[in-house]
Amino acid sequence: MKFRLAFVGFGKVAQGLTELLVRKHDQLKHDYGFDCRIVAVADTVKGSIMNKRGLDPERLLHLARTDESLRAYPKGSKGLSSIETIKKAEANVLVETTWTNLTDGEPGLTHIKTALIEGLHVVTTNKGPIALAYHELVALAERRQRQLRFEGTVLSGTPVISLLTETLAGSTINSIRGILNGTTNYILGEMEGGRTYEEALRAAQERGYAEADSSGDVEGWDAAAKITILSNAGMDGRLKLADVHREGIVGITARDVRDAASAGMRIKLVAAAYAENGKVTAQVTHERLPETDPLSRIPGVMNAVIISTDVQADIIVVGPGAGADSAGYALLSDLLAIDRFLTK
Ligand code: HSE
Repeated sequence: MKFRLAFVGFGKVAQGLTELLVRKHDQLKHDYGFDCRIVAVADTVKGSIMNKRGLDPERLLHLARTDESLRAYPKGSKGLSSIETIKKAEANVLVETTWTNLTDGEPGLTHIKTALIEGLHVVTTNKGPIALAYHELVALAERRQRQLRFEGTVLSGTPVISLLTETLAGSTINSIRGILNGTTNYILGEMEGGRTYEEALRAAQERGYAEADSSGDVEGWDAAAKITILSNAGMDGRLKLADVHREGIVGITARDVRDAASAGMRIKLVAAAYAENGKVTAQVTHERLPETDPLSRIPGVMNAVIISTDVQADIIVVGPGAGADSAGYALLSDLLAIDRFLTK
């Protein structure tokens, strides 16, 4: 298929994808016959631009990274809202990367619904809509016969959604246990190295790991959203975010971290989901883990999941859990998956 992408949200993650599309253009064309054009971009801060004949990705990156707005793009329609962009750009895929809102999923939820209703496929890294309305969105996508892919919502570009829903087909997933939030893992590691909580949080924000509102990370909401997504998509759960028992790392002191270390333990924020008698439950808790637990050895912004199934020994996946390049790659892998699906 000839991809005609409309971006709604053009922050670091969308720019990460755009950079990959530029850098890997020849490889993707040669290896997969991947043919892709960006026809519209709408961003609340950077402005919007639409040109049905295609936009130059390098120029978009330049404008987004300097103080110039996308309105400075030389040719095309400007000033469209995100909804107008989705409806008018004649795109066939929406790339939705607006900010995560775990209260009502907006504005991403409306963007995704509108795109599916209009007949677009959707790729997204936005956790809000997928954590809050997974079943509703999947049903809508099925009705509209469109693909909704969200690999980057959990473990960023490290594959876990496609692993659970496609690669492990035929297995029953009994439990998932993991470190799903990069910011808190980074903070706990830095505290172990002697930094204060505040210093470590500031560093995580500067590196772009933390959410716009970092309380989502440190109070455990982000990890709770991710375990909800994994439970629903990978374990056939019917979980709501509010069903997840949740703890964060607020209140954990450098002393707690050092005390744990001197006892040969590490404090980690662990998210887990268990299937029992057809029911899936999930929790996010801070735990003192012994060194024998693989999760105790996951450093910095890395994430990990341990997947237990009914057919083989546990599977462990470790990889980056945050960062624009990794999340940008998640979107690319989703686009390539759509391409494979449509050319089946
Ligand atoms: N704030 C998130 C984290 C970003 O720290 O893991 C990736 O979802």
